[in-house]
Amino acid sequence: MSKPRLVVTRRLPAQVETELAERFEVLPNAQDSLLSSADIVDRVRTHRADALLVTLTERLDADFFAALPDHVRVVCTYSVGTNHLDIDAARAKGVALAFTPEAVTEATADVALLLLLAACRRAHEFQAMLREGRWGAWNAWDNLGWDPGGQVLGLVGMGRIGQAVARRARAFGMVIHYFQRNRLDESKEQGATYHASLESLFRVSRFVSLHTPTTPQTKGFINAASLSWLKPGAIFVNTARGDQVVDDALIAALKDGTLAAAGLDVFAGEPRFDHRYLGLPNAYLLPHIGTSTEQTRIRMGRDALTNLCAFFDNRSMPWPL
Ligand code: DGY
Repeated sequence: MSKPRLVVTRRLPAQVETELAERFEVLPNAQDSLLSSADIVDRVRTHRADALLVTLTERLDADFFAALPDHVRVVCTYSVGTNHLDIDAARAKGVALAFTPEAVTEATADVALLLLLAACRRAHEFQAMLREGRWGAWNAWDNLGWDPGGQVLGLVGMGRIGQAVARRARAFGMVIHYFQRNRLDESKEQGATYHASLESLFRVSRFVSLHTPTTPQTKGFINAASLSWLKPGAIFVNTARGDQVVDDALIAALKDGTLAAAGLDVFAGEPRFDHRYLGLPNAYLLPHIGTSTEQTRIRMGRDALTNLCAFFDNRSMPWPL
């Protein structure tokens, strides 16, 4: 029996590419170039693809789905984030969609804790001090950060990643509060305190970490108004998506002391980002490395493959959208 035909838009870990090729007739992107929507449609047409495997660097909007040839029956994204996909347009076109949410959980939660600890122990400032030869004699009163232990960590979104962050933060003695639309059952809450609004959560939190998808409700919801609800000297962490934050407001809060520090792995418009962050000593910045471990990137690929195999075997995909 002939293999289904698959277009893959970016290079993936070698093991994943090998496993994909065992099950699919793959058209890879050997140069790993960034493809426009028109490039992807061209490749799909040339390869007469039945399926498409994309990453967060491609933009699959309503125009893309309108132009997509009908022989493509399923699109899987190698990500938990879906803000690059127009899900409604895919559904209207009758294209099945899937993603890889489970694979990313632990690595992303690790980075949230890395950012949280780096921010509250002022790692960026002290790293620069050491590297620039400004390390003076030890003293008891200067260069102080803040303990996470005993502090309220407000999790915005308590899905898989939020819960994994909560597990780690409890080991540091943090007290977990969370906000999302629906309250979790007690077995998932593990003693965390639920808030029915962002304002209620922010008013009690010393630390805040975002774990929400970008939706019309969350786009730009970290803004001057919501930041003003935080206690003075709060610490903000973002491993979700940059477009949920209004950069002007976050930068102003980091400058005027509303926030003591921030740890950011994601930025609006990345890899371009607002370079004013570079001038802020209290901002600890990473280039979207939440899932960047060998094991996680392989697992993401295998989960994508599992979705696609299930689709072509007429079984339910484990992670549909
Ligand atoms: C995701 O899976 O959406 C991550 O942001 C990719 O690193």
